[in-house]
Amino acid sequence: MTVKIIVLKNKKEAARRTAEIFVEAVKRKPNIILGLPTGKTFIPIYREIAKLQRKKKISFARVKTFNLDEFFGLKSEDKRSFRYWMNKNLFAKVDTRKENIFFLDGTAGDFKKECSDYEREIKKFGGIDLQFLGLGVNGHIGFNEPGSSFASRTRRVKLTRSTLKANAAGVPHFALTMGIGTILRARKIILTATGKSKSCAVKEMVCGKISKKIPASALRSHKNIILILDKDAASELKTKV
Ligand code: GLP
Repeated sequence: MTVKIIVLKNKKEAARRTAEIFVEAVKRKPNIILGLPTGKTFIPIYREIAKLQRKKKISFARVKTFNLDEFFGLKSEDKRSFRYWMNKNLFAKVDTRKENIFFLDGTAGDFKKECSDYEREIKKFGGIDLQFLGLGVNGHIGFNEPGSSFASRTRRVKLTRSTLKANAAGVPHFALTMGIGTILRARKIILTATGKSKSCAVKEMVCGKISKKIPASALRSHKNIILILDKDAASELKTKV
């Protein structure tokens, strides 16, 4: 087991620690390539990042960001889109430059080309230095639902009922997502999970069988991964790992 696990008192502390890692990484490498997620877990994290950026006077102007996923068919201005969500929760609050923000276009006519172009774009900049991830209650990462191949690349996927339930009402049933294989290529990965609803997925990811049934279990093969949990999310881990 190479996964390093940090368990913190509560959601706030987990958000703070994740934000610190983010800001410190930018400080060390101002032109860092980041992979970013959406999701409720990251609302306090992005809030904290914006706060820290101001406090420490660190510029994100040279940072490039690649978001993990986007709903299929949604325009970036659509309030249900992840692009809209990222603008609201992070990009509008920090000094990232528009030209350095990369997103899958959910409305692309040729979605297969959109996905392979995204892979090419990531490669062109030398790959992702630091990938942040949330965790789905069913163990998904990005929108890689159970059954996804560990070698999968950026592609269109069908969302499961449990994922649709966890997202806002009325979202499309399909999405574009980086693949598990794409995620595993990142040089470093930070997965943050908080709350009781994630405890089972965390247990399966850390202690269960490495299997396509739990997409996040693929991360155990990664050489440089840190799991940041609050006590609730870690509550089903019996042994100290
Ligand atoms: C969403 C996103 C994932 C996110 C996960 C957890 O569906 N596609 O990238 O990490 O589910 O979201 P939350 O933090 O809201 O529980």
